[in-house]
Amino acid sequence: MADPTFYVTTPIYYVNSVPHLGSAYTTVAADVIARFKRMCGYDVFFLTGTDEHGQKVAKAAADAGKDPKEWADEVVTHFYAAWQDLLITNDDFIRTTDERHLEGARSFLQLLYDKGDLYLGEYEGLYCVQCETFWLPSQLVEESQCPDCHRETTVVKEENYFFRLSQYQDRLLEHIKAHPDFIQPNVRRNEILSFIDQGLKDQSVSRTSLTWGIPCPFDEKHVMYVWVDALLNYITAIGYGRDEAHFAKYWPAQWHLIGKDILRFHCVIWPAMLMAAEMPLPERVFAHGFLLTEGERMSKSKGNVVSPAELIAKFGVDAYRYYFMREISFGQDGSVSMESMTARFNADLSNDLGNLVSRVIAMVDKYVDGIVPEPGREEGLDTELKETARGLFSQIDARLGVLGYADALSAIWEFVAKANSYVDRSTPWDLAKETSLEERLRTVLYNCLEALRQIAIVVWPFMPSACEKLWAQLGIPEPISRQRIPAALEWGSMPIGGKVTKAEGLFPRIYE
Ligand code: MSP
Repeated sequence: MADPTFYVTTPIYYVNSVPHLGSAYTTVAADVIARFKRMCGYDVFFLTGTDEHGQKVAKAAADAGKDPKEWADEVVTHFYAAWQDLLITNDDFIRTTDERHLEGARSFLQLLYDKGDLYLGEYEGLYCVQCETFWLPSQLVEESQCPDCHRETTVVKEENYFFRLSQYQDRLLEHIKAHPDFIQPNVRRNEILSFIDQGLKDQSVSRTSLTWGIPCPFDEKHVMYVWVDALLNYITAIGYGRDEAHFAKYWPAQWHLIGKDILRFHCVIWPAMLMAAEMPLPERVFAHGFLLTEGERMSKSKGNVVSPAELIAKFGVDAYRYYFMREISFGQDGSVSMESMTARFNADLSNDLGNLVSRVIAMVDKYVDGIVPEPGREEGLDTELKETARGLFSQIDARLGVLGYADALSAIWEFVAKANSYVDRSTPWDLAKETSLEERLRTVLYNCLEALRQIAIVVWPFMPSACEKLWAQLGIPEPISRQRIPAALEWGSMPIGGKVTKAEGLFPRIYE
């Protein structure tokens, strides 16, 4: 039987600026779940990409004196590089200027038009250029400013095509109520429920005020509203209108990962568009919170953006990925700082995990010539360690099932602590002094190595390169990426007789 499929997406990022911690945050989170699900035997499709049309990008290009496509071609290379630096294993990268996207998006819109779900109307509204959003007067701050970016809004009046969003109000409510998992976390679900309860207005889906967009197939004077264009990436990338078999294999997505600022687009407009096209809705949308530096949302306009590259240079890619997944509860806002990153690094990585690895490997090297020993009779301490390991998979699986990255890591770190205390309590250094305790020494060292093997596997989705190094030290020939869980977590799978190699510390302490 074919492996079950698992389709996970990130938002597609605007190419008005280069990747920052915010875009890296969602992308790392999606990568962790993609790697984990692959390890669980799923046929994963992990999509990310760039949003290249619309006013915001046109403006950035014009400011740089470039043609928008030329500009996008340049900026997108920074995304490719950043995702490579962060060891992101996306299966595809969609750009909304890709031919495949243009075609798919146009046929989708034509479908809605043919079904009578679009009509021509006049729109007059308060528009924020930066956010590509029309606002109601009641939503503005300081009388005329955009509530998101605090820039001045302008009155825009133009002929637009409208999507009959209002007609989907009841069906949307029904769907959200019948599928409690559809919008997560719960606070976002409630936010959307009360938003829909206030009544939905039809949604403008085209523009005549700009040309940098996809022409509407039924009226070429209009280009698609950038958000409609962008949302369609989730289906055009996997073959909508082009490769129906591939499309049917992966759609609907299991997860759309997004930031909380783009909730309405994903939980109101997008599902209604899909309903209009009579297509299944994504299974779940998760809106994470914002990363804050010194209490403020990080954004380019505030000038408090730190680049992922700076942090990777200082802490390494593994610690980078670990920190964001461990420090902030996914779904909530969270403060990030150099100080807390250094503290986490030294405590969790250098002390807890790094020391465990280096002392176990050093003892195996010293006491049994680096050869994985055959264990003897099991004692109480061993059973305890083994039992803790036994519960690990189901805990991680349950926590990652609701994108509880920090919780999953804390369960893993409880096991790391358990393994450290196993070493302390079983005192191999004393056992090594007595030849009569040789069997006990072998058993203890074997269990320590087995614990490291299990840790390497479960930590790998979070810290792939460090775990690959640890794996190499353990001398296991089959690659770590090929391990299939839970089978590979069967206690006692560490191959006896293999050669363990000492290496440099995985996480040398950072002093500052
Ligand atoms: N292009 C749209 C998304 C279209 S998806 C069909 C867009 N792009 S964006 O580049 O502006 O933002 C992409 C994502 O980055 C959003 O989910 C947003 O929440 C996230 N972040 C931007 N700044 C952020 C933080 N400071 N912290 C966490 N994530 C934030 O919106």
